[in-house]
Amino acid sequence: MTRVFSGIKPTGHLTLGNYLGAMRRWADVDQHRSEALFCIVDLHALTVDHDPARVRRLSRQGATLLLASGLDPDLCTVFVQSHVDEHARLSYVLECVATDGEMRRMIQYREKSARERERGGSVRLSLLTYPALMAADILAYGADEVPVGDDQRQHVELTRDLAARFNQRYGHTFVVPRATRPQVAARVMNLQDPTSKMGKSDDSGPGIVYLLDEPNVVRKKIMRAMTDSGSDVVYDRETRPGVTNLLEILAACEGSDPEKLSGAYESYGALKKDTAEAVVELLRPVQERHKALCADPGYVDGVLRAGAERARGMARPQVDAAYRAIGLLPAG
Ligand code: TYM
Repeated sequence: MTRVFSGIKPTGHLTLGNYLGAMRRWADVDQHRSEALFCIVDLHALTVDHDPARVRRLSRQGATLLLASGLDPDLCTVFVQSHVDEHARLSYVLECVATDGEMRRMIQYREKSARERERGGSVRLSLLTYPALMAADILAYGADEVPVGDDQRQHVELTRDLAARFNQRYGHTFVVPRATRPQVAARVMNLQDPTSKMGKSDDSGPGIVYLLDEPNVVRKKIMRAMTDSGSDVVYDRETRPGVTNLLEILAACEGSDPEKLSGAYESYGALKKDTAEAVVELLRPVQERHKALCADPGYVDGVLRAGAERARGMARPQVDAAYRAIGLLPAG
């Protein structure tokens, strides 16, 4: 059976980008047709300036939202990264296989470290080594597929390179995984700046639809989305990024084709209105389930405890095998 691993970082409230780019497929497709693990990758949240209490809160909220989005603990494993030591154990070994050049070439490292320096801050070493930890997340479970949005594809490519290099040097140990992406909305853009990704860690509230936004807030954000000069509805990322983003969002909600959809609209206003209503309807069941789960925090704790136990059992033999292959003496 195909094995799937993916994760989400508790660095901000989850967004429509997270949902359309990743979470929705995890619940609708991946958990039904594969042996799937989904992880709140909290160690990754420590790579930038963070408030400990907020990371803890967002980790719990993220796990609750994963369940609210339809992940079923009877079908898949949901857990928190720091509850399973194997991630950190394997990450170090992969740092010994990676080069500092390939880490420095990662777009996310270049963008985030530049932003941090601009603010006059210092860059944490863990931001540079982040992709080794992400590779460890995936390789520890022998995952064949990694369902992610477009922004994570480069990290998955690096994971493939590290797995292949390790296998070549030390003997076959790891499955070489591949990234999978949704057909539409693999890169949902910020509504106020449609040339940038809708990112949960960004500060631009009005450009980001959060999964827990009230219906009227969702409507307001979408109705005020930045559109492009011109008034005809055309699907073209280069010349019409704002309209194209709305078409992608609406098409993803409806399961239709964004380019075909563009022919059905004569004005930006009508497109915005339909997109807003489609997103409100998409989020409604998730928000209802989230509310119910919040009333039962013991249930979420139990799911995470059982998930970590199952994940540990899967990762330990794989990481032990990597330790042996690279030359570490097994403990007696
Ligand atoms: P993160 O937490 O930024 O995002 C979680 C998932 O959501 C997708 N995504 C988007 N998709 C479309 N449009 C957007 N605007 C958008 N924003 C986010 C991301 O592509 C991702 O699939 N490094 C990862 C977390 C991670 C991970 C892993 C993922 C750590 N270890 C192992 C897969 C496997 C990250 O920061 O995702």
